[in-house]
Amino acid sequence: MTQANILITGATGNVGTQLVKRLAAAHVPFKVIVRSNDTNKYLENIPEAEIITADLGDEAAIGKALRGVEKAFLLTNSSEQAETLQLNFAAAAQAAGVQHIVKLSQFAAAEQSPVRFLRYHARVENRIRELGMTYTFLRPNLYMQGLLGFKDYIRNDGQFYAAVGNAAISAVDVRDIAAVAAYALTKPGHENKIYDITGGEAITHYEMADILSRVLGKPVKFIDVTPEQMEGAVRAAGFPEWQVGGLIEDYAHYARGEATVVSNAVPEVTGQAAIRFEQFVQDHKTLFA
Ligand SMILES: NC(=O)c1ccc[n+]([C@@H]2O[C@H](COP(=O)([O-])OP(=O)(O)OC[C@H]3O[C@@H](n4cnc5c(N)ncnc54)[C@H](OP(=O)(O)O)[C@@H]3O)[C@@H](O)[C@H]2O)c1
Repeated sequence: MTQANILITGATGNVGTQLVKRLAAAHVPFKVIVRSNDTNKYLENIPEAEIITADLGDEAAIGKALRGVEKAFLLTNSSEQAETLQLNFAAAAQAAGVQHIVKLSQFAAAEQSPVRFLRYHARVENRIRELGMTYTFLRPNLYMQGLLGFKDYIRNDGQFYAAVGNAAISAVDVRDIAAVAAYALTKPGHENKIYDITGGEAITHYEMADILSRVLGKPVKFIDVTPEQMEGAVRAAGFPEWQVGGLIEDYAHYARGEATVVSNAVPEVTGQAAIRFEQFVQDHKTLFA
């Protein structure tokens, strides 16, 4: 196998798992940083993957892993540590001579945003630019896969909840995000681009409930809750306080109708129409039904 010059982070998560699948299917060799031997099992059967076990906070290990890498995919979950981890990764990448960073950011990332997730993503994007590396910033809207967190409620009670009102959102399937990431990592033409990555339609959570009902063949209801109710539920689910606050800010941003824009990044970059919400439900029917 030829030497890998692509490095992937976040490979055990929603987007990363799909990205790994795409690179492996195209027989592209890549290095992958995973922090635990427990979560990297699926990678062991992928011959294209050179597995490095390290926490992104381990600067020496990250510097070593980045040697010989030309393009890096940067993704972490949005935790209180995310900004520091990502800024350190960017600095280490520049020091190691990485030419191009493909960073998973978020739709509407802006340093002045009232949403903490959007502020930290913007700060990391701006730092990558300042470091002078080529960049591709992927700014996806709400993930359709977020609904999988409600699969038990949908299956057992026929209900799901959010503090989002009647706002339409151009939610996107993570498979489309991974497809755009794979193109940016393996094909030319994506240098210094910012892609807003959305689905092909903006729909409300009530419309999502109608589609779920139709596809699953049973009534599914969306319950609009107050931000306070959502905050209590998210806290009870065990999220750290910083993330609880961030999720409430995020949903207030959706509820204000700030995430309705439909972009053409998916068809433009991949040549395929974005996956529709109905298709997402069909593909996960056994989990919801
Ligand atoms: N959810 C949404 O609707 C949405 C919308 C737009 C943008 N986003 C952005 O998407 C990102 C999350 O993407 P995702 O859902 O694909 O991620 P995810 O499923 O939460 O997975 C996060 C990945 O990061 C890895 N990671 C976290 N901390 C690490 C560390 N210290 N060292 C090494 N690896 C570490 C995790 O590894 P482990 O397996 O070891 O935990 C995992 O592979 C966030 O930045 C968020 O702002 C989310």
